[in-house]
Amino acid sequence: MKIAMVGSGYVGLVSGACFADFGHDVVCIDKDPAKIERLNAGVMPIYEPGLAELVAANVQAGRLSFTTDLPEGIAGAQAIFIAVGTPSRRGDGHADLSFVYAVAEEVGAHLTEPAVIVTKSTVPVGTGDEVERIMSEASPPVRFAVASNPEFLREGAAIGDFKRPDRIVIGADGEWARQQMQEVYRPLFLNKAPLLFTSRRSAELIKYAANAFLATKITFINEVADLCEKVGADVQDVSRGIGLDGRIGPKFLHAGPGYGGSCFPKDTLALLKTAEDYASPLRIVEAVAKVNDTRKRAMGRKVVEALGGEARGKRIALLGLTFKPNTDDMRDAPSLAIAQALIDVGAEVVAYDPKGMELAALMMPKVTMAASAYAAVDGADAVALVTEWDAFRALDLGRVKQLLKTPVLVDLRNVYDPEEVRTAGFTYLSIGRP
Ligand SMILES: NC(=O)c1ccc[n+]([C@@H]2O[C@H](COP(=O)([O-])OP(=O)(O)OC[C@H]3O[C@@H](n4cnc5c(N)ncnc54)[C@H](O)[C@@H]3O)[C@@H](O)[C@H]2O)c1
Repeated sequence: MKIAMVGSGYVGLVSGACFADFGHDVVCIDKDPAKIERLNAGVMPIYEPGLAELVAANVQAGRLSFTTDLPEGIAGAQAIFIAVGTPSRRGDGHADLSFVYAVAEEVGAHLTEPAVIVTKSTVPVGTGDEVERIMSEASPPVRFAVASNPEFLREGAAIGDFKRPDRIVIGADGEWARQQMQEVYRPLFLNKAPLLFTSRRSAELIKYAANAFLATKITFINEVADLCEKVGADVQDVSRGIGLDGRIGPKFLHAGPGYGGSCFPKDTLALLKTAEDYASPLRIVEAVAKVNDTRKRAMGRKVVEALGGEARGKRIALLGLTFKPNTDDMRDAPSLAIAQALIDVGAEVVAYDPKGMELAALMMPKVTMAASAYAAVDGADAVALVTEWDAFRALDLGRVKQLLKTPVLVDLRNVYDPEEVRTAGFTYLSIGRP
């Protein structure tokens, strides 16, 4: 099949490369000329494990190419995916659909052969209807249908998730669109990945409901962790104790500094806006968004507490800045709020991250970036582990202690064993553990 992918960011690039790897003929399109230039030169615009190799192999096999020219890129494609960004709209938190609609207009104006237009971007219920309306107004001279195919990949494990998904959701209201989509996913279907066909509106809502549910699970255990601290229980035992219940499951029950990233914060907000528009409130999700919002800054206060309540003039080292390990994505990372909270009380912040510092430096200009974890810790009054990169899991605690001015370790990801760290001579605070 010939597939066009409009938008070559995290989702578009990974999906495009994986479709090519399945044997499809894929053109990835992006309006950012610098991104396409880099891709054509074999340089990845993002850090994602395995992506550079996958892209190189498929470019070499002649199945994957990149262009800024949409009319040329979609020519002859039987499926045209929209994978552009849907950030929070400034001012009101609704999903900003201007990029999606701009693509629909452009595709509508240049479509010359029958194709399914597939929204892979996360979009509110009803967006497919609007894409269809825009396309119809552009009145392409050929048959088209609009389908929804939300993406569930996780950054840092994106290729594995795309190739071995728990499920593939396809929202299509007609038989032709369904058949085309089945063709697109045939290689995965043969691999027994469950293909769930729904109406377009259900598919659009599935994506938001899934993200809101996961955000709820994280926020639930975070609040239980706070209670653990008050009552002298251990949240890791509580998580295990409840997670072994098959109805609950062990995933997304790791207490931490609050969720961040490119999806959960904006998607919970956008879902709440949809609920508001339809006068059908989602009160649990409202509470989740509120609790998570205040939590990140509270983590800054936790670091201050570890320093005895006063951080003015103190230097604090942050290890890990990206919203999770194995990505360079800094969108809505908890580190942003934590660093700001510390700067606001007069602390100096030094940080190190294996992949995120280039982007982080632009977003947190008052934070000094260090060349390594040990360089960040050198001369600091406390160190806070913010993102659980593997490189921080086995730090040489003796060396860290020697480098620190005072041996204070705040472990916001519960990576270390409290007893071991305290035996090594540290003041140690973690999340929800005695
Ligand atoms: N990042 C994730 O982990 C993830 C997971 C699932 C779903 N999603 C959803 O997928 C969508 C894309 O997310 P992302 O993280 O890949 O975004 P991104 O910002 O990394 O990429 C979007 C790309 O679209 C390009 N673009 C914008 N307008 C364009 C146009 N008119 N023509 C061509 N290209 C255009 C941009 O230049 C950019 O490169 C969002 O709706 C997001 O919510 C993201």
